[in-house]
Amino acid sequence: MAIVEGWYPPTRENWQTTVLIFQILYPALSLMQLFISWYGMGKTSVRSAFNLPGRVAWVLMEMPGFTTVLYMMKTLPRMHGIDDLPWQNRVLAGLFVIHYIYRAVVFPLIQPSMSPIHVLVALMAAGFQVLNGVGIGAWLAAYGPVTAEAWAARSSVAQFCVGIAIFYVGLAANFFHDEELREIRRAEKRRRQRVLDKQGGAGGAASVEKHYQIPQAGLFKHVLYAHYLCEWVEWFGFLVAAGWGCVPAWTFLVNEVFAMLPRAVKGKKWYVEKFGEDKIRKRWAVLPGVV
Ligand SMILES: NC(=O)c1ccc[n+]([C@@H]2O[C@H](COP(=O)([O-])OP(=O)(O)OC[C@H]3O[C@@H](n4cnc5c(N)ncnc54)[C@H](OP(=O)(O)O)[C@@H]3O)[C@@H](O)[C@H]2O)c1
Repeated sequence: MAIVEGWYPPTRENWQTTVLIFQILYPALSLMQLFISWYGMGKTSVRSAFNLPGRVAWVLMEMPGFTTVLYMMKTLPRMHGIDDLPWQNRVLAGLFVIHYIYRAVVFPLIQPSMSPIHVLVALMAAGFQVLNGVGIGAWLAAYGPVTAEAWAARSSVAQFCVGIAIFYVGLAANFFHDEELREIRRAEKRRRQRVLDKQGGAGGAASVEKHYQIPQAGLFKHVLYAHYLCEWVEWFGFLVAAGWGCVPAWTFLVNEVFAMLPRAVKGKKWYVEKFGEDKIRKRWAVLPGVV
């Protein structure tokens, strides 16, 4: 039974409309970051009655993506009389789910601390996830290639494997750079805990909320938002595997860049203000040699 008749899961026509809405709405919303200085999340979060705790918001806003893909995979093939999807559809759906189990469930659990997130930011992110989940999920479940012949015309097995390899490199590198940010806070927590313990330990556990340092490991030496860059590599790999004609994969990648590029550029300004021009000057925001 459909959750929203004709839309969730969507008919082919409504799926095309959903992808079109995602293609227009989210780049437009993301571009507003160029004109509005407020962004209620992370380094730029401020006190507000409309803030949600960072971990809770992160789970709520990121979960709808992979659960939507799973729902599409469960419902749409049956509705379209597809008995058995090609292995490529299952592999791509699996990779999407692996990424988002890390991002939506594991990531918020293992962060040493997370700034609060404004409910508006969380709602926009959840909307992003639903639209993207419908776009990619319905493509994989019924409206993209659903036979071996259709796959052969879109992405050869060799191209598919190259795409998957790029995806895994991006996933591992994204995790590695996320981990460097976590280690900054873990190390600071250990340092503060030692100080507290020396003072008698009566103060309880040390807090590292909003503790920032310049990250040094891996690509961070050259790029302040190396974790963003690696995430783009990941979804570029997904696009290569799905084939250049996969409109939902293009839409996802372009929307990620639109959402994250302004944040990285503004983030570089934030680093310069906090740590000084001298320490930041030689690092790019997110794309080495470009910005
Ligand atoms: N933001 C997006 O639009 C977006 C979209 C798609 C995917 N992602 C992915 O989601 C992950 C997190 O993104 P994000 O935008 O939250 O990244 P972020 O602003 O760099 O923050 C990541 C985490 O590290 C902490 N942190 C950031 N800079 C730090 C520093 N210099 N020293 C110590 N800790 C630091 C943050 O703490 P605070 O929360 O306290 O600042 C937060 O918990 C990334 O891997 C990214 O690729 C983000």
